[in-house]
Formats: sequence, C-alpha cells, structure tokens
Amino acid sequence: MAVSRMTTAKMKKMKTEGIPISMVTAYDYPSARLAEEAGIDAILVGDSLGNVVLGYDSTLPVTLDDMIYHTRAVTRAAQHAFVVTDMPFMTYHGSIDQTLTNVGRIMREGLAKAVKMEGGREIAAAVEACTKAGVPVMGHIGLTPQSIHQIGGYRVQGKNSEQARELLEAAKAIEQAGAFAIVLELVTEEIAELVTKQLSIPTIGIGAGAVCDGQVLVFHDILGYSSEDAPKKMVKSYANIGSQIRSAIAQYVTEVKGRQFPGAEHTFHTDADLGQHLYGGGSSDSDNERAGN
Ligand code: KIV
Repeated sequence: MAVSRMTTAKMKKMKTEGIPISMVTAYDYPSARLAEEAGIDAILVGDSLGNVVLGYDSTLPVTLDDMIYHTRAVTRAAQHAFVVTDMPFMTYHGSIDQTLTNVGRIMREGLAKAVKMEGGREIAAAVEACTKAGVPVMGHIGLTPQSIHQIGGYRVQGKNSEQARELLEAAKAIEQAGAFAIVLELVTEEIAELVTKQLSIPTIGIGAGAVCDGQVLVFHDILGYSSEDAPKKMVKSYANIGSQIRSAIAQYVTEVKGRQFPGAEHTFHTDADLGQHLYGGGSSDSDNERAGN
C-alpha cells in the first residue's frame, strides 16, 4: 500500500484547517518505528539526544556525527512521518558556507527531510541560505537549550513585556527568513497565542500551552522512560516504561540467580544420541529450525 508522506505543505494546510500537528522525538530505529505505527505526523531527532540517550547534562556536547548517526536510524523507520533533525550547538553560527556544508551532511548522510535551528534574528541569514538551497528549516525560540549558559537555567520565557516583544520579533524574523514551522519552548500561553496568530507558519509548542498549531514532546518523557522520578510541569507521561523495565530486568536477574531462567521451553536438545552428535555428525536440523537458523 502506498504511504502518504507528511510534507511541509501538508503541515501548513493543517494549520489553516485547525488540525493539530503531532510531533515526538526519536533517536533510534525501534522508537521511530513505534512512533510511526502510532500515527505520529512528525519526528524530531532532537539534540535532547545528549541528555536522554547519551547521558550528558546538556545538549552542548552533541556532535554533527552523533546527529547523523541517529538520524540514519530514525529515517530507516519513518515511512509517513516527516523527520526533522536538530543542527547541534555551533554548527550553524559560522560562515554560510560552513553552515550549508553541515546542513548538507544531515540531509545527505542522515536522510532527514528538514533541519531545526535555535534562535531569532541572529540566525536568520543561516535559515534563509538553507531555505534557498532547498532545505526546509524549523525554527526554535523561547527556551533554547543550546544557550542554557547564557539564559542561566531552564525557566519560562516571555513573562514580561520586553521578553514578549523580543520573542514575537524573533518569530517573525525566522518566518521571514523562510522557515516552514517554529518550535515555541517553555513560553507563556499568552506569547504562544500571539505568535501563533501572527505567523502563517505552524507553531509547535512544548511547554507553551494548547494554543499552538502542534505539540512536541521528548519520547522518553511521554513514556516515563528514565530512572528520574521528578516530573516536569510541561510533560505528560502516558506510561511508566522506566519502572516496568527496571522490574523486568530485576526479575530476570532473580531468575538467572535462581536458575529459573532459561526454562525447558528456552532450551535445545539433540534428538539423536549424543555420541553420534559429538563424533558422527553436526547439529540436528530440528534444533536449527527451533533456533530460527
Ligand atoms: O532537542 C529536542 O528534543 C528539542 C525539543 C525539546 C523541541 O529541541
């Protein structure tokens, strides 16, 4: 059956028709495949990879090669979903030539459909150059994790009128530069509403209220797939996979120690006499069949 692929044009139409866009992060083949099977519209190979998969305490150490490697795994799984990959820290702030080279690697080697960049007017030239080169760009304003040391912490943006004005200007600059959509992270609902109404491109919120044209969350947050217990206010966990995994592995450990695993049903036997197998022939065909060989 032919797969109907999500596109930037379809997402823009969804905004016009008031149909919310669903997006989730994924960093590998099985998670992308599950998201795809669940009917997600778009997948973000986010540089949150650094925090949730690679164990860093920020997104800053994530490299272009990391993003390409994980994007390749995700794009192998995504038939319908539109795959956007984060440009990592400082890979789009040098010359336009260097930015295009880096973006080209994400598209050609990772096979992403688009890239995402954090920032406002200061990255407008990079957004414009990529758009002109045929690469769709998603913007990202509000709490921009790559600037965490400048911002000074994971706090809500746009609480005062000065910040609000700056955010609106940033959003407009990114739209004007040619971005097809923009992520609004950890901003007040009032700002999200203002930006969503004033822009013709879709806004994708995370911690930005229900007024955005779409929502994005981190895969591991949705699933409760971590060993941390403190929930973030902006996140809704629809499962608690972390504790299920922990207790499943604990049970496995117990069964190995107690010699309950492997059981008879996981164990292979020779069906001729052992002496013949050791001295006379190879493994039996029926064992190979049962092992899936
Ligand atoms: O890297 C990421 O996961 C993101 C989302 C939080 C929007 O940028």
